[in-house]
Amino acid sequence: MTDFEKIRNDFPILSEHIYGKPLVYLDNGATTQKPAAVINAIKEYYESYNSNVHRGVHFLSQKATDAEEAARSGVQRFINAAHSSEIIFTKGTTDAINLLAYSFCKKHMQPGDELIITEMEHHSNIVPWQIACEDRGGSLKVIPLKDDGTLDLAVLEKLISPRTRLIAFTWVSNTLGTVNPVADIISLAHSHNIPVMIDAAQAIQHMAIDVQASDIDFLVFSGHKIYAPTGIGVLYGKHALLSELPPYQGGGSMIKSVSFNETTYADLPFRFEAGTPNIAGIIGLGAAIKYVSEIGINNIAAHEAELLDYAESELKQIPGIRIVGTAPHKAATISFLVGDIHPYDIGELLDKQGVAVRTGHHCCQPIMDRYAIPGTVRASFSFYNNKADVDTFIAALKKAISMLV
Ligand code: ALA
Repeated sequence: MTDFEKIRNDFPILSEHIYGKPLVYLDNGATTQKPAAVINAIKEYYESYNSNVHRGVHFLSQKATDAEEAARSGVQRFINAAHSSEIIFTKGTTDAINLLAYSFCKKHMQPGDELIITEMEHHSNIVPWQIACEDRGGSLKVIPLKDDGTLDLAVLEKLISPRTRLIAFTWVSNTLGTVNPVADIISLAHSHNIPVMIDAAQAIQHMAIDVQASDIDFLVFSGHKIYAPTGIGVLYGKHALLSELPPYQGGGSMIKSVSFNETTYADLPFRFEAGTPNIAGIIGLGAAIKYVSEIGINNIAAHEAELLDYAESELKQIPGIRIVGTAPHKAATISFLVGDIHPYDIGELLDKQGVAVRTGHHCCQPIMDRYAIPGTVRASFSFYNNKADVDTFIAALKKAISMLV
């Protein structure tokens, strides 16, 4: 059995104090903390083999290149991609979606064509598609949310048309915690020959993902949500789909040959990796994936599900609480409001007691419009959180409420 209490010792930051109080970190949806295994992998790279990749025959460059490609293979295995060349390193989820929006729409979108997204998307899965639609003369259709924070999939059937080019949606809502029925959406999309892009920024750290078993066309995620550094992320795409797309950025590494008459592009994955990559970030991502794999993603999911149940049942006992997002299947994220107290006020008073949560619209203004609220307080959990963290959070919340009403 996994000893999650012992695992807490892997995270140096968890012994920090904030305003003299032990840190209770419940802002894992924004970014996760880093285990010593990741910090040390980055330190080791800078201390002993810092060098550029795919550019030199010298020892250090070879070693850095091997480490980068080992990380790529690690990601491939983690999501069960068929080929490591289907793993494109990006700056993060946002960068990956911008890449896809540009390249996919340049190749496939004609004036009058349509894309489908959902009302629960993060701004990073809305704005790049809006920009692409503006450039290509296309339009965006939106699957609406129901009151409980699930998608109204009956509407999806009506939104699909012969002009639909792609359906792009999040696996897990960063705000509502809703886990979307990925298999149902993919099977409906594929029955109309429409590819899908899945934003796994809030799924990759919580549940097992198998892109082949799920028949996922494109998938994106950020390293920093899965215990790796910021500034590194992944675009996965089926080889046949990625290889027909034009490059997003030009520069070194993404070419086969360059002359002033004609430039030819490299094969996957390098065609989409112009310039020196975030080598330390890639090595950190490789270490994070290895670390998570050793704990076991299914063990992580089970522990987090227990924490979610416990936290929700404790929260529900607080008078005036309103949980925003009550889908039957949720990841360990709870958004809430208390009476008419502004979320920022609660967030600040929790912070003074050492409890870090996120407040505001969580980069999902359409969700706030849908529920006619200014924002929420969001507690988002990781496997290194425990019931004591939940107890501290609830006690701090009760104290904050008593000071505000
Ligand atoms: N998208 C991140 C969040 O939900 C930043 O907090």
